[in-house]
Amino acid sequence: METRFQDPASWDLLWKNVNIATMVGENYGTVINGAIAIAQGKIAWLGPENKLPAYQKDSIEEFDGAGAWVTPGLIDCHTHLVFGGSRAREFAMRLQGVAYEEIARQGGGIISTVRATREADAESLFQSASKRLKALMAEGVTTVEIKSGYGLNRETEIKMLEVAGRLGEELPVEVRRTFLGAHALPPEFKDAADDYIAFLCQDLIPEVASRQLADSVDVFCESIAFDLEQTRKVFEAAKREGLSVKLHGEQLSNMKSAKLAAEFKALSVDHLEHLDEEGVKALADAGTVAVLLPGAFYFLRETQLPPLALLQKHQVPIALATDLNPGSSPLASLLLMLNMGCTLFRLTPEAALTGVTKHAAQALGLQDRLGSLEVGKDADLVLWDIEHPDELSYRYAPNPCLKVLKSGLSTKS
Ligand code: NIG
Ligand code: FE
Repeated sequence: METRFQDPASWDLLWKNVNIATMVGENYGTVINGAIAIAQGKIAWLGPENKLPAYQKDSIEEFDGAGAWVTPGLIDCHTHLVFGGSRAREFAMRLQGVAYEEIARQGGGIISTVRATREADAESLFQSASKRLKALMAEGVTTVEIKSGYGLNRETEIKMLEVAGRLGEELPVEVRRTFLGAHALPPEFKDAADDYIAFLCQDLIPEVASRQLADSVDVFCESIAFDLEQTRKVFEAAKREGLSVKLHGEQLSNMKSAKLAAEFKALSVDHLEHLDEEGVKALADAGTVAVLLPGAFYFLRETQLPPLALLQKHQVPIALATDLNPGSSPLASLLLMLNMGCTLFRLTPEAALTGVTKHAAQALGLQDRLGSLEVGKDADLVLWDIEHPDELSYRYAPNPCLKVLKSGLSTKS
């Protein structure tokens, strides 16, 4: 693949004296005492430094990693990081025993963020979201997925997607956008959920697709959100418009929604605490990624664990993400999710890192270009001040991220 990059004459940059977790194969795909050459933003050569082909020193910028570790750029494949307001009051209520679902039924929860997001102008949404995104990037995130879903009307859903697009243009990070109009029922459609779904399918999804405002469509399928039939309609509309689908599924109850998502070859189904074996098999057959969100599990003080052993038995790829949002996971740290994925869900540190690299890329349909360090893939690299990649899951803070490249360009040094 990409043989034109093999010629050292084409190299722009060479990282030497690094240990590399390529995430290809067993044991992190480790290369000790390695080197990585970059040409035109892509990985042109990678291997043990003593196998480097001869090259002309003066035309290539060299960097000495001093024995630090390199991983692929981290990918946060599930966030809602564009939103207005705060839900700190609701947090206090929940600590006094009011359930998340109960708060939602009383018009709080997602709907209270919808009110604040509708009121906020695009500039203030951009500013508040930038701070959250920069916090993720400081820990080595080079690609992030951002969902709409706090507008629930045409104007605000589009405003959110445009703000997400602007974040990707103005910050050195790749943004993938997901339309989540089916996140909650807006007050204007009270007792008329089917009419809202029809509006999404007939008007908003076609507009979002034709203006290329999103890559995927997501649905929150749950008793406090949308049912299976409504979810199916949204998925059909997405497919008609050539968009891929994702799902918030089996989070608070078993709705058999994972099976439905698999029918539509969903890129991922996310949350999954209440997933059963039939659903696991459906995900395995469809090649759908299971995205686990330990931050939401932790923050909602859930006790039902996602079925990790079944997912592993059926070899479903498992990703981890922050779910960064004001209600169920106000936690802007993917490294913290590595730690929680291990402590709360019992992933190994290697499975956790795979979940924010290789499998997270797959959850966004970007595995051909991102998620592992291989010749021909994008040069999204993170340099870490660690002795071993297990440390990324083991300890939380101080931040060990030393340096970041996005498509070969330095974004943190
Ligand atoms: O992923 N589950 C639905 N959506 C979000 C929560 C959003 C909110 O509470 O504001 C989630 O957990
Ligand atoms: Fe979410």
